[in-house]
Amino acid sequence: MNMVGVDQVLEKLSTVIDPDLKKDIVSMGMIKDLELNDGNLKFTLELTTPACPFNAEIEDDVRKAVSQIQGIKNFDMIVTAKVMEGRSLDVDTALATVKNIIGVASGKGGVGKSTVALNLALTLSQSGAKVGLLDADIYGPSIPLMLGIQKANMEFEDNKLQPAESNGLKVVSFGFFADQEHQAAIYRGPIISGILKQFLVDTNWSNLDYLIVDLPPGTGDIPLTLAQTIPITGILVVTTPQEVASNVAVKAIGMFNKLNIPLIGVVENMSYFICPNCNEKHYVFGEGGAKKISEKHNIPFLGEIPLNSGIMEGSDKGKPIMLTNPSSPSAESFRKSAKNIAAQCSILAAKLREEMQAEAVEPTPTS
Ligand SMILES: Nc1ncnc2c1ncn2[C@@H]1O[C@H](COP(=O)(O)OP(=O)(O)OP(=O)(O)O)[C@@H](O)[C@H]1O
Ligand SMILES: [Mg+2]
Repeated sequence: MNMVGVDQVLEKLSTVIDPDLKKDIVSMGMIKDLELNDGNLKFTLELTTPACPFNAEIEDDVRKAVSQIQGIKNFDMIVTAKVMEGRSLDVDTALATVKNIIGVASGKGGVGKSTVALNLALTLSQSGAKVGLLDADIYGPSIPLMLGIQKANMEFEDNKLQPAESNGLKVVSFGFFADQEHQAAIYRGPIISGILKQFLVDTNWSNLDYLIVDLPPGTGDIPLTLAQTIPITGILVVTTPQEVASNVAVKAIGMFNKLNIPLIGVVENMSYFICPNCNEKHYVFGEGGAKKISEKHNIPFLGEIPLNSGIMEGSDKGKPIMLTNPSSPSAESFRKSAKNIAAQCSILAAKLREEMQAEAVEPTPTS
């Protein structure tokens, strides 16, 4: 009787395609530690992020593929997730322990950047990823209030700032430096940029899968310093359905595009209101604004978050809805958006990896 071989197994497994990356799982290096002895098959399936929306589907497809291989007597699979590097760490020697940096930006102020940044960070952390949150709104830091940690004792170790720990997140905010908080408004561009650089580079973030950076509104010094000082995975644009917000969001998108800063996509906040009586979605400010932006500017649409008093109260009371009411429809909407965002980061990471490989094999021109 013919014994099943490793080649046959890999061939079959390579028919499983990651729906986000549109590549087969074998060439993406997701099959690790494969052992095949006398029909007993064992391997680890290493997914690209614990928050991928298709993880269960990929796992199912792998099991189906294995069941179709003749001669497999026993099958044992360990499923893990290792977040891919969405930024070139080789280039960034100053901050080489953070795999992805996501800037949360908007055109207009008050659209919910900080709310989205915080709940997104919590969701990714709840999925099993290591997550940091940097409040880069140096003029008006709101993360301390939203997390209920107004004053943190910021400590330095080996000249590095130790981030505060809150609900599994590593957090740094200018607001923790309470005495300086009120003076921020008088700081000018270069000083503000310097503070942000220090928060990024002189902080002991340790190993993070995602560092979420909550930015002030618009396209001023802070977003530009973030995007141009160190390699980032990309910018997430938050907008609301009102035309005033989406018009400014479009301008911000145009500017990020012009500067070649990658855009992860757009999230629409305060999209609809769920009627407590009839449970129906009401698009009070109009429907589909962010989707239109995403289609017109060719950037992914990543989700919509309802207008909900629980979200607002959570922020005001320092008890984010992801923690107090994780099974609510609002929390579910954050989870859905976070999965799409994580998937987009994997896509950008795969693209980056390809570009780096292409560069590595490019023949040097001979004269
Ligand atoms: N989906 C939502 N439902 C209800 N209230 C919300 C929602 N999102 C945000 N809010 C509330 O709207 C206000 C503004 O939100 P937030 O501070 O997150 O906006 P921002 O874009 O970060 O503002 P800024 O531009 O000042 O940094 C807050 O009071 C917040 O609680
Ligand atoms: Mg804010």
